[in-house]
Parts: sequence; structure tokens; C-alpha cells
Amino acid sequence: MLRTALFASLCAVPLHAQDGGQLFTLYCSACHGPDGKGATGGAFPPLAGSPWVAGDATRAVKVVLHGLHGEVEVDGRTFNLEMPPQGGVLPDDQIAAILTHVRSSWGNKEQPVTPEFVKATRDATADRKTQWTAEELLKLHPLTATKPPIANLLSQVYQGEWQKLPDFSTLKPGNVEEEHSGKISIAKAGFNESFGMVWQGDLTAPEAGEFRFRLDADDGARVLLDDKEVVKVDGTGPMDGSRGKEGKIELTAGAHKLRVEYFEFHGQEGIALSWRGPGIPSWRNLSDKPPKVGPDPIPVEPQNGRAVVYRNFIAGTTPRAIGIGFPGGVNLAYSADNLTAELIWTGAFMDASRHWVERGQGDQPPAGENVVKLSGSPSLPKDARFRGYKLDPTGNPTFSVQIDKQILLDSWKPAGSAQSPAFLRTLSLKGQGSPVEFLLSEKLPVQKASDKEFGLGNDLSLQAEGATLENRDSKLVLKLAPGQTATLTYRWK
Ligand code: HEC
Repeated sequence: MLRTALFASLCAVPLHAQDGGQLFTLYCSACHGPDGKGATGGAFPPLAGSPWVAGDATRAVKVVLHGLHGEVEVDGRTFNLEMPPQGGVLPDDQIAAILTHVRSSWGNKEQPVTPEFVKATRDATADRKTQWTAEELLKLHPLTATKPPIANLLSQVYQGEWQKLPDFSTLKPGNVEEEHSGKISIAKAGFNESFGMVWQGDLTAPEAGEFRFRLDADDGARVLLDDKEVVKVDGTGPMDGSRGKEGKIELTAGAHKLRVEYFEFHGQEGIALSWRGPGIPSWRNLSDKPPKVGPDPIPVEPQNGRAVVYRNFIAGTTPRAIGIGFPGGVNLAYSADNLTAELIWTGAFMDASRHWVERGQGDQPPAGENVVKLSGSPSLPKDARFRGYKLDPTGNPTFSVQIDKQILLDSWKPAGSAQSPAFLRTLSLKGQGSPVEFLLSEKLPVQKASDKEFGLGNDLSLQAEGATLENRDSKLVLKLAPGQTATLTYRWK
């Protein structure tokens, strides 16, 4: 529709090659903005100050002739859009006039482009039927050097196998390399398994204020400014946005010491970092790959001292999960498939941004810390059925399960304090029948302190009253007789 309207006005008022500015308004400004900064507040890439229109003009001529699609980085920002080809509509002299205008406006100071030059490029690419990708064009016509995002960047490679960020200060590094691109990149590491890397350089804050950093890595990485940790992604896992983290820091205007640490365990590898803040209004890449910029987090939190329920796909448990976030910073995910709380954790509850509008793709991991996976298989015999849950006036849940003619009630409430978070769990068996064995945990090392006290893994202690617990090959089992009630206290160490 846009194209037709533009074409109609073009026919009504014939334009000459020299009207570069007017042709630009007609053919380019809808997307690139009348001021060349990218229309709709920079949602489209800028031509003002773009290295893509600087230096060798062949690159820009090809973009206009055949269009561009896929990921492209312009001035530290990554776009992944479509520019339709314009070569069918625009003759050589008009393309030359537009690009001459673009190359000499909004602070751009480049040589004019002649119709002959456009014709030569058009002839040389006559076979081209598809839009270009940035990668193809940059191979043919590399960008002229631009200011590196990180000044004086040096890197060092470390060899070793880690599953968590090591203390690099105790390790022996390889040679110091200069990174002239000024970007965090593992392209020249020389390894793709079992290695680490540390970069150091100067990052300049254009103004004083709060800056945000987005980091993602396969496997782990952290970012320090002036020796203060700003953001960390630890442990092993993919770089698909699901583990990415954001951190923030107050900076004065001027240069700051940036340090980035990274390790790769096995499999895929990569690191992605970007930042924004005063004077940097949209995310700027500090790495050769951009982090997947997800939606801003929508934290789900307990309100007015009442627990909150989240029913959606939660990573680490089964599809029919019920998440409960309690006041006091303890949380659980109950599996209605396996009939028990499979995950418990402290701190923030859930980030709902992924599933806000619909049941979006993938599972959402817990937003907080100290996640303990208690179990992942059925907690009760096959004939047990989930009967739903009830909330008390403060939102504390009681899950109920029917086992033949008996009902097992499983209640959870927060205990402890912010410094020492804990859960109080009450399990009681109602009705007539035989004793029931309930799987409390599996695959977590159990240390028995007494008949009533156990250590569960490294993070948790468990105290039991009113029932016996049995430890069978790292499976902790609770035996309940009809009419019996057991009280369990889970406490983070
Ligand atoms: C329909 C919208 C649209 C129109 C019209 C359009 N462009 Fe683009 N242009 C884009 C998009 C979108 C990209 C980035 C494509 C991507 O993400 O791969 C782009 C990329 C570019 C680039 C490379 C990146 C950069 O920002 O420097 C240049 C140069 C460019 N366009 C020039 C032009 C010129 C000159 C015109 C007018 C003849 C024009 N474009 C018309 C949408 C458009």
C-alpha cells in the first residue's frame, strides 16, 4: 500500500535525479526516518552515522538494489528485519542521488555516488534474485573501522574443565591478546571445549547514572566494573535467553574498568553482552553476538502478606505444576502429576513475562535462588489421584490426594525468617486403610544427624516430627499410618 501511494505521487510530480532529498523522503524516510535516525523511535536502523553507508558505496548500493534481511548490526545495535528491494522501482540516477544525499546529510561526510557507479553495481549483480544478508555483504565489503565499544581491550585464555566460574586469579593464563574489535568474542579463543577467557578494557559512560547490563553465556560468565560484580550467569547450560541475566550499576561519567570472565564446559559455546543507560537509549552490543533481548521481566510476587499462585509451565517440574510464592521469600512448585512439591526455592518467585499473553514457548525457571529439586518421580502408589488444593485466608495451600479410600493432606506454610528461610509442611492421612509410603526426596544426598534430623544435599536441613523417615539409597521415604500426622521443617542452611 505504501509503495502504491508513493508511486502515484511520483507519477504526479516527476522528480529528477538531483532531488536526492525528496527522493529520500519518498523512498526511504518511512522506515529510516526523515532525520535518518530510524523511524518509530529507532525501531528501524539509522542511516545517520551508519558505517553501512560510509566508505565503499557498493555495500549501500547493493542494499538499495536488492534489499536486506536477517540480523544486521548498525552502530552497536542489532536489528533483525526486512528491507524490500528498491532496484525495480528506482533507476540508477535516482539511487545515486538518494545515496549521495544520505552520505552527505545528518553529519555523514562521504563522497557522492555517480549513476555510472550504480549501473556498474547493478550489472555486476544482475543475477541476484534474493535479498542480501549482512554476513554476505560484510564479507564482500567490510565496514571501515569504527570506534570500538570497549577501549584498550585485552583477552587471556585459560585451559581447564569447570562447571562453575573458577577463581581466575589462581589460574595460569595464556598470552595476552589485543582485541582490536573492542568486542567480547570467543572467535579467536583457539578452543571450543574446556576453556575459560578473561577480558579487560575501558568502558566509557557517556553520562553519570544507572546503567543496565544484559549477559548471556554458554556456559557461565560474569561482568565486573571497577572490580564490582554487576551481573553473573553461572553453571552450565545453553545461551538461548532462558539463563540470561540483567544487572545494574551506578556509574560516573567517563571511563571505567571493565572485566569479563567466561568459561565453557562442553558442547555449544558463546557469550553475549549489551548495555544501556544515560546517553545510550537502546541496548548496545559489547560482544560480537547480541544477547537475546527478552521482554522486560514481570515479577509475580505475594501481595499484602498473602501467598500468590502461578499455574503455568515451570522448568524443573512436570507440565501440571502449581507454583506458590509465599510472603517471606520461600516458594514451591507442586506437581499435580507426581503429587508432591518437587521444587522449593528462596527469594523471588516467578517472572511471568514469557507467559503473560499466552502460554508462550518453553518452561519458566524459578526467578529466585537456592532452588532445591526434591524429587522428580511419583511420590505415591499408582492409584493415587490429585483432588485439588485449598488456600487458607493467608493463601497457604493444602494439596489433597486420594489413595483408595484415604485422603492425604499436604499443607505448606512459610516458617523461619528472611535470614533463615524455612518451610513448615504438614502431612496427614485421613480415613480407613493401610499405611502409606510417601517419597519425600530422591537423588539428594541424605546425611542423617539423628532419627529426626537430616541434611538434604548441601543446602537444606529437614526435621521431622510425628513420623519415621527412611533413607533408602538416597531416597527419603515417609511412612504414614491412617490417622497419623507428620510435621516437617525444611530449612536452608
Ligand atoms: C520498508 C522499510 C524500508 C525502506 C522503504 C527502506 N529501508 Fe533501508 N532498511 C530497512 C530495514 C528494516 C533494514 C535492516 C534490514 C535487516 O534487519 O536485515 C534496512 C537497512 C538499510 C541499510 C543498511 C543498514 C543501515 O542502517 O545502514 C541501508 C544502507 C539502507 N537500508 C538504505 C536504505 C535507503 C537508501 C532506502 C531508500 C532508497 C531504504 N533503505 C529504504 C527498511 C527499509
